[in-house]
Amino acid sequence: MTEKDFIPKKYSANVSNGSVTWESPSNIALVKYWGKKKNQIPENPSLSFTLSNCKTITTLSFVKKEEDDNSFTFDVYLDGDLKEDFRPKIQTFFERIEVYLPFLRQYVFKIETENTFPHSSGIASSASGMSALALCLMSIEKQLVSDSPFDEAFFNQKASFLARLGSGSACRSIEGDVIVWGETEAVEGSSDLFGVKYPYQVHGNFENYQDTILLVDKGEKQVSSTVGHNLMHNHPYALNRFQQAHDNLEELKVILESGDLDAFNALVESEALTLHAMMMTSMPYFILMKPNTLEIINKIWSFRQITGSHVSFTLDAGANVHVLYPQDEREQVLQFIKDELVVYCQNGHYICDQIGFGAIQNQ
Ligand code: DP6
Repeated sequence: MTEKDFIPKKYSANVSNGSVTWESPSNIALVKYWGKKKNQIPENPSLSFTLSNCKTITTLSFVKKEEDDNSFTFDVYLDGDLKEDFRPKIQTFFERIEVYLPFLRQYVFKIETENTFPHSSGIASSASGMSALALCLMSIEKQLVSDSPFDEAFFNQKASFLARLGSGSACRSIEGDVIVWGETEAVEGSSDLFGVKYPYQVHGNFENYQDTILLVDKGEKQVSSTVGHNLMHNHPYALNRFQQAHDNLEELKVILESGDLDAFNALVESEALTLHAMMMTSMPYFILMKPNTLEIINKIWSFRQITGSHVSFTLDAGANVHVLYPQDEREQVLQFIKDELVVYCQNGHYICDQIGFGAIQNQ
């Protein structure tokens, strides 16, 4: 597949108005995407678990313009409130995807969105938000090509392709439960253009794998992901890091098949710390972890050593900690979280999630 394959032929149907709703999940990367080329092409492959509970629900209503005014016309609402500050991001998104969805200037759009997790939680909503919007747009395109319909596989692939142009990690939020994005020899069929379902065997140990997100800092990040990605250009360790991600995917493939949780934990924690090491060794350098992030990491390590638990952690581009553990250790680890980790969370807040199945359309 190339980018050109996502440019549609002439639309056959005339659709004057309508409304579509999609519910799209967040995802947590185990092998991290950090660094990108032009057009949102990742510098290295990544692999993520799709989450079940952290979702964005987006309704996109559309009315055909009487006259073509050659502009993008939309309003964005979050929890019912008009959000002018979301406008630039959507405007950029529309500009990037227009060639693949040539109907965008022909409609007036109302984008109504809500998250199942608190907006101020510090959890990035760009993955679930951009994937939900991409899916809504695909549902409109589906109506416009109703004379020569495309199949579900293409629908998902193009939705992922479009979501990527909104936010890289969003392309991993269309399907469940394990997704790979970025071309790598380790995974057949992998692509830089869109996320694909992980095609190999996954051991039962990872079924319903748990992710409890400890909300250490709910504030706005001081450095956005986009800025962070750009700092990988001319980064002294970039090339080694990009190669490491390929090697880690190769290794993770063996681990996912064997169910070796100790090896899983070592790889996942190393990936998280490497991500933050890249931030600390950028120029300019920055630190997104907070003192409580480190407190939690140390507590997890000592709990694991004392109890033999298979709990581990990963981090995204922020201070929050994703605590990962197998389903059969749920009770013990949740108790540990309540007893020893909640104290490090802002207002004691955390969110229980687990690996899940991907986006769904609401009728
Ligand atoms: C650290 O997808 O948020 O979470 O493409 O600029 O929107 P943009 O970046 P984004 O980056 C996510 C980075 C990460 C790692 C990951 O999810 O793989």
